[in-house]
This record gives sequence, structure tokens and C-alpha cells, in this order.
Amino acid sequence: MLHNFVKTTVAALAMGSASTVLAHSWVDSTKYDPVNQVSLGYPRGYPGRSNPDINTEYTYLFSGSPKSQPMCNPKQQANMNYSPLFPMATVQPGETVYTTWEQNGHLNNANPTKIDILYYPDPNKQFADVSERNTAMVAGTMDFATNATCYSPGNPNSVCFGSWTVPKDLKPGNVYHFVWFWYFNQNPAGEWYSTCFDLDVQESSHVVEVKPMAELLAMADPDLNYALGMTDSIKKELAEVTNLGEGAQPDESSYSSEAPAESSEPPAMSSSDAAEQPISSVPAPLPAPTPAKCRPRPH
Ligand SMILES: *[C@@H]1O[C@H](CO)[C@@H](O)[C@H](O)[C@H]1NC(C)=O
Repeated sequence: MLHNFVKTTVAALAMGSASTVLAHSWVDSTKYDPVNQVSLGYPRGYPGRSNPDINTEYTYLFSGSPKSQPMCNPKQQANMNYSPLFPMATVQPGETVYTTWEQNGHLNNANPTKIDILYYPDPNKQFADVSERNTAMVAGTMDFATNATCYSPGNPNSVCFGSWTVPKDLKPGNVYHFVWFWYFNQNPAGEWYSTCFDLDVQESSHVVEVKPMAELLAMADPDLNYALGMTDSIKKELAEVTNLGEGAQPDESSYSSEAPAESSEPPAMSSSDAAEQPISSVPAPLPAPTPAKCRPRPH
């Protein structure tokens, strides 16, 4: 009885919202440093939060459990488009990566929706179709939005993030392809979202400090400046790299926060690096979803 009631209610909600569903979530930072609150890499074709249309331009929806549909947003599918302001992240095998997105009103502590980080261990293999979500490798699974993953759970625009591990068998010197795939699925017809990104895998990279999520969340609610792009100071920070070494994987118990080993040849800084680009505008938070969109899970 209750089950039937829920099913009917869910179907009614779905019909009411099916044609208006848009604007949910996407990745802002593929490699986030939660201690210093900067982004060290971005997804494909990322427009930045200073673009007022990012919400509509960058959301990529799979509505109604499609059997086939391009895996990536048309702006991301064709090529690996990155700009100096929003570059691809560099990582190394076994590195812990923090990735961020926006809650957009979908906090769910009791039954959190899930994100998979999909990838292929072959740098020549690009994602083509959404059906590959069932056949690709999974580098990590994260909760979309709970009190344990979002900075300000009560704020629908809160930044949320999670961590996952770069597969150890990826070969340095190659760019590998990844998909952030969110099973929103609060619409019973099926509702998923993707953001496609790439990682430049190298022997060494700028490794961010790994700490327990609760400690990182307690630090501060980030101001989203990291979604405005690379500054010269972040580029300098990225030049400091470390090598985790064979089989060495940082974890919450063993990671040392000591300074990474000096690189033997520190990169020369150009004079333009000294002039820090001021952040000209603070991005407006995205509007909270209207009740007609993004229905919360019915009780
Ligand atoms: C989650 O956080 C919110 C806001 O801080 C709080 O009101 C709520 O009680 C928390 N819920 C759980 C399940 O911890």
C-alpha cells in the first residue's frame, strides 16, 4: 500500500517536472586543495564562475535512463579543451584527489545520491557513450551531498567535495580520460549528470595535503574564488612537486604534511609571475533550484 502510494506520488512528481528539469550540478575543480582552498585543475571546457550562464551552459543531463547518448556535454565530447585560466590537472599514480561540485539543494543524509569517477586505463580510449558507465573502470565512488561532504549543509549552494585515488596502474607520461558521473535518480525515469575531464599523469606532481573530511570541512566555507581560475601564485605552488614513490599512497594516517622534497631544478619564474592577477569579481552563487526542478526525494 505504502509502496504503491509512493510509486504513484513519485510518478506524478516526475511527470510534473520532466520537461523542466535542468540546472543541477557539475564539477568545478577536478583537483582541489582543501587546505589552501585553491583549484589545481579543472574539467573540460570549464567556463568559470564569472560566466553568468555557467549553470545552463555546463549542466549535462541524461533524462529517462537513455540507452545511448554521448557521454559528455557537446562542449566536452569532441576535444580536450583547456585554457591557461582553467588547465587540466597533473597527478601521479596513487595520489589522493579531491574533486568539488555544488550541492544545488540536493542534500540527502539518509540516502545520499552517488557519484562514480569513471576512467579507462588506456590513454587512447576516450569516452563516447553513456552506456560505458556500466563497462568503464571506477576509480572512486562518493556521496553527492551529505553533512560529511558539504561545507554548509543547510545552504543549497554549498560547495561539496569528496576524495578518490588515481589508479596506481596508470603510466606516467600519458593523459587519461575520466568522467564524473552523478546518479541523481530522484526522478524514477532515471536522471544522471556527467562532467568529463582528463588528467595528465606524471611521475611527480603537486600533492595536496590529505586530512580527514571532518577536519577539512571545519576549515572554512570556500568563497569560490578557486572557480575563477589559475592565479600566478597557484601556478608557483604547482611547480613544487613531490614523488610519492612506488606503492606509496598518502592516506589519513600516514601522510606527512612536511614540505615536499626540493626539486633538483626549480623552474625559473618569469617576471610576469610576480604580478599577481587580481580576482576581479566574486562569482554570484547559483540560484537555488525552484520547486519545479530537481525534486527532492519524496518521503
Ligand atoms: C546536518 O547539518 C545541518 C546544518 O548544519 C543540521 O541542521 C542537521 O541537523 C545535520 N543533520 C545531520 C543528520 O547531521
